[in-house]
Parts: sequence; structure tokens; C-alpha cells
Amino acid sequence: MSEPSLGFVCTPQPRVLLRNVEDYVNLVQAAIAPKDMVFYSFLKPWLGDGLLLSAGDKWSSHRRMLTPAFHFNILKPYVKIFNYSTNVMHAKWKRLVSEGSTHLDMFEHISLMTLDSLQKCVFSFDSNCQEKPSEYIAAILELSALVAKRHQQIFLHTDFLYYLTPDGQRFRRACRLVHNFTDAVIQERRRTLPVQGVDDFLMTKAKTKTLDFIDVLLLSKDEDGKQLSDKDIRAEADTFMFEGHDTTASGLSWVLFNLAKHPEYQERCRQEVQELLRNREPQEIEWDDLAKLPFLTMCIKESLRLHPPVTVISRCCTQDIVLPDGRVIPKGVTCLISIFGTHHNPSVWPDPEVYNPLRFDPENIKERSPLAFIPFSAGPRNCIGQAFAMSEMKVVLALTLLRFRVLPHEEQPRRKPELILRAEGGLWLRVEPLSARPQ
Ligand code: HEM
Repeated sequence: MSEPSLGFVCTPQPRVLLRNVEDYVNLVQAAIAPKDMVFYSFLKPWLGDGLLLSAGDKWSSHRRMLTPAFHFNILKPYVKIFNYSTNVMHAKWKRLVSEGSTHLDMFEHISLMTLDSLQKCVFSFDSNCQEKPSEYIAAILELSALVAKRHQQIFLHTDFLYYLTPDGQRFRRACRLVHNFTDAVIQERRRTLPVQGVDDFLMTKAKTKTLDFIDVLLLSKDEDGKQLSDKDIRAEADTFMFEGHDTTASGLSWVLFNLAKHPEYQERCRQEVQELLRNREPQEIEWDDLAKLPFLTMCIKESLRLHPPVTVISRCCTQDIVLPDGRVIPKGVTCLISIFGTHHNPSVWPDPEVYNPLRFDPENIKERSPLAFIPFSAGPRNCIGQAFAMSEMKVVLALTLLRFRVLPHEEQPRRKPELILRAEGGLWLRVEPLSARPQ
């Protein structure tokens, strides 16, 4: 391992930047180190006390209540939704290519697709947003862009000034629209639920229809049998919509970029998918297929290493934290844990800038610390949606490579870390439809 590298970042609070596995192990594993709220405070009016932003007892009780929402029994039927939303996106790509637009901004197309599938998984609502404008989806895209913009404008960090600006007013308006949508779904669902026997009603529904996240949230109870309030359900649903769309879209856009730059890996993935779906009609990815795409999974992981969608997380020390070399991070200091830095640390990852999926060959991961690869963070506050995200990325990537060849754009994209890792001016790739069946 290299020397611990502690970079000090100049902010109103004392901050420390960590990128070495040994240094942050205590910090991410410890429940004593909650998130630094300065980092996330701009999201609060939108996401309320959802899992991402809540703390203390509320967070731990909700985390326990929400964990079953990501159980594989709940996720399994979502795979159909992922296939469907991907098919809609591909139909649009084919149409655009036939009209002469062969260069597409992956972020734009894939964000709409991930929003489309999330809206179905969270609310069972089909807004058809990939085909026609949707007010609700436009509001989510606007909120995400406004939060990222506000981060860059230090003089607008105080609420008082921000809400006087046109952006602040736009933010308020979009928040209202998104909340009204979520509230309406919750009210409608409550109206149709029988007063008694909610559990039986939903259990029966689960046998015939896909349970969406709203159903699961309505079903959740804590140890004392207490249910979530409507406000809590709204906060959790809005959090899933926010946290689940951009991150997954970033992961997918960058893996397509990496495979465009490495046609040999792209072709190997394609062959794996073709082999899996041989003689199958319709060509659809099913839940059990997800474990049968080992090379494609390695390609996704290596891309999440090289281009982690979330580049940095922060924790505030509520007590002194002792580093392995004896140095102490004092109580009150905010630590920025650099996921990007960890994934590019040359003492853990030789030639860190090289895209090499074989780093994730089971033979090669044995010697590595599990904390060397943390795209979904680690410890008790890790990403609750990681199985959802990995399933969606596998379905979308497999179907995309089955139907299209992706090629690099003339210009090399420049990484642009905002709330998530983007590319300056979008991530443009050339797509070429392939014939329906391999010859
Ligand atoms: C490739 C896709 C994704 C990546 C890279 C990712 C990454 C992360 C990371 C790094 C965190 C920790 C944030 C922090 O500590 O400040 C996190 C938390 C979280 N993620 Fe994800 N995420 C992804 C997809 C999703 C999806 C699809 C959902 C939901 C449907 C989701 C829901 C959440 C929630 C609710 C939290 C907060 C968990 C808590 O604090 O208990 N994420 N995610």
C-alpha cells in the first residue's frame, strides 16, 4: 500500500480527504459517523427524511423496514419492466438511426429510460416518457440539474438568497409538482386498500401482479407494528426516484463508452449474450439469466471502478477516529471519502487508467480488500438499491449489445463530476443496429 494520502480541503468546517482502504475502513463501517449534511442539504426540500438524508433512530428503523423492499422476490418481477423500458429505448434508437442520427448522447437517452423503468417499479405508473414529454419526469430532471448547479454557486448556498433567484423559484415549483404526483399515488392507493386486512390484500396482489415499491412501503411495519406515515412513504419513494435514475444511467453510459473503446471486450460480451439467448423467442433477459453473464458482469464492475457514478461520499466524525498508523481524525471533522481516488489508487489497482475487466475475474479478486472497490459505498449506510441497479444494468447492457454495435465518438469525453459522474457536453457514442439474429 502507498503512504496514506490525507488531502485537506478548504471549507468552513475542517475536512479531510481519504482514499486509502485502511484509513476509511473504521469510518465507513462505523455507525458513529453519520453523513455530513452540508453536502446533501440542498436535496432536503425535495427528498425530506428519506433514507439518503435521514439520520439516527429514524434512519435505522426505516432502513430495517425498507430492506425487504429490495429482497430478490420483490426485484424478480422488475426484470420484465427493465426489458420493456429497454425495448422502448431501442425502438427509438432504431428510428433515429434510420432518420440519419447515428450519434446519440447516452446520458440523455439512458436517463429517460431509467426514469421510465423506476416510475413503473415505484408507482406502477406508465408515463410513456421516452416517447412524449412528461411533466413529472421533466421536473425530476430539472431538480437534479438545479441541485448540481447550486453546488457550483457558493453565494447561493444560503436558502434565503437562493429562493429569491429564478432558479430557487423553479426549484420550489418542481418540488411541488413532484410531491403532488407522489401524494396523489399514495392517496389513490390508500383509497383502494381495504381498511382491514391490508396485508392479506397485498399478499394476494403479489401472487397475480407485480408489487411496486409503494405497495411494499404501505406494507412495512417496524418492530412495534407501527406503519410508515404518508409523509414518510413520499420521502422514501422520492428518494428512490432521485437516487436510482442518474446513478444507474451514469453507470450504463460509461460502460457503453468503455466497451465502445474496447471492441474486443464488447464482442466477447455480445457472444456471451447470444449464447445465452440462442433459440429463445422472444429474446428477453430473465431473472435467472442474470447469474449467467459472468464476463458482462466483470465489464460492468470494471467500468464502475474506472468511472464510479458517485465519486465521493462524506461522513462527519462524532468521535475521534484512530487511523491504522496512529494518527487521529478529531471529533467534528468532516471526512470526504474519495471513491474515485480509491478506485484509481495505483498501489491497489496497477495501471489504474486502463480498462481491464479481467481485474474482476474470480481468480484475481481473492487477494484484494473488499473495500478497494466501493461504487455502492460500504458499511451500514451502503446503497440499499445495489441489487436493483446491478440487475437493471445487466439487462440493459445485454440487450443493447445484442441489438447494436457501439463505437466511440470522434471527440474524447471529459469527465465531469457533479452529483454523479457525467461527461462534459454529454456522452456521445455512435450506434449501429445489428441484424436481428446472428448469421
Ligand atoms: C449504479 C447505480 C448506483 C450507484 C453507483 C449508487 C451508489 C450509492 C452510494 C455510493 C450511496 C452512499 C451515499 C452516501 O453515503 O452518501 C448510495 C446510497 C443510497 N442509494 Fe444508491 N446507487 C445506485 C443505485 C441506486 C438505486 C437503483 C436505488 C433505489 C432504487 C438507490 C438507492 C439508494 C438509497 C436509498 C441510498 C441511501 C441508503 C442509506 O443511507 O441507508 N441507489 N448509493
